[in-house]
Amino acid sequence: MKVRKAVFPVAGLGTRFLPATKAIAKEMLPIVDKPLIQYAVEEAYASGITQIIFVTGASKKSIENHFGHTYELEHMLLARGKDAQLKEVQALIPESGSIIYTLQNQPLGLGHAIWCARNIVGNEPFAVLLADDLIEADTPVLKQMMEKFDELQSSIVSVVEVDQQDTSKYGILDADPLVNNVTKIRGLVEKPKPEEAPSNLAIIGRYILTPEIFDILEGKEVGAGGEIQITDAMARLLKTQDVYGYRYEGTRFDCGNKAGFQMANLAFSLDRPDMRNRLLPFIRDLIKKY
Ligand code: G1P
Repeated sequence: MKVRKAVFPVAGLGTRFLPATKAIAKEMLPIVDKPLIQYAVEEAYASGITQIIFVTGASKKSIENHFGHTYELEHMLLARGKDAQLKEVQALIPESGSIIYTLQNQPLGLGHAIWCARNIVGNEPFAVLLADDLIEADTPVLKQMMEKFDELQSSIVSVVEVDQQDTSKYGILDADPLVNNVTKIRGLVEKPKPEEAPSNLAIIGRYILTPEIFDILEGKEVGAGGEIQITDAMARLLKTQDVYGYRYEGTRFDCGNKAGFQMANLAFSLDRPDMRNRLLPFIRDLIKKY
């Protein structure tokens, strides 16, 4: 089985970034000049995904507008001869019918958001991308995982080693140490206290899941934080199927918090030769102040 569809849960309220996220989805916040969601969608397409499923909430409009035509803007860019920008804006618009939007009417958790895509995904393996985990990599992380999926034909989550004191921010694996970047998972726990964490291998926002996960999510079991957790559903899936952790090659930025978001902006800006020349002297001066 091949992975063709990718689910993007984008219904979160983005409370950490208020007031910036009052009228737009947090996934619309830009790293340099591109919204987070666009990095994730580009990663999916570059990995071979052909169908995009957005699970949206109140912030639906800003995402829809971003991936749709904006005729006024396009007309203006054309009239002013701004060909490069026009091309860039038009390149964002996927083939008709390749993006599907569905609504998560209540914010009941990540597991619930994924379950909202059940009828669109159907009976095939699929990917999930959390856009606030931005990963810079030579080979897109989802592509790395899809190659592993071709071999293993089992659910796979991307993982990274985190500091023991940070386990309470992540889904954590109970698993043997990685061998060739892969480990078979024995158990999973969502956001355990450091003293209770079975390892320091944390789930990062890229998943490939088999469709049986939907039957489990159907049970709407409430877990950590009073939410329906995908981590708990995968822990149940483990009882009947293998699930693997995969340590991706790449650098991850946690854009779900303000410091991580700024680090991503800094790193991506410095990658741009035109910006680097202006930013570096500025940063050097700034550092002297602290
Ligand atoms: C979610 C998942 C968690 C995972 C994390 C990765 O948590 O529930 O298991 O480790 O994404 O970013 P959130 O960051 O939405 O609280």
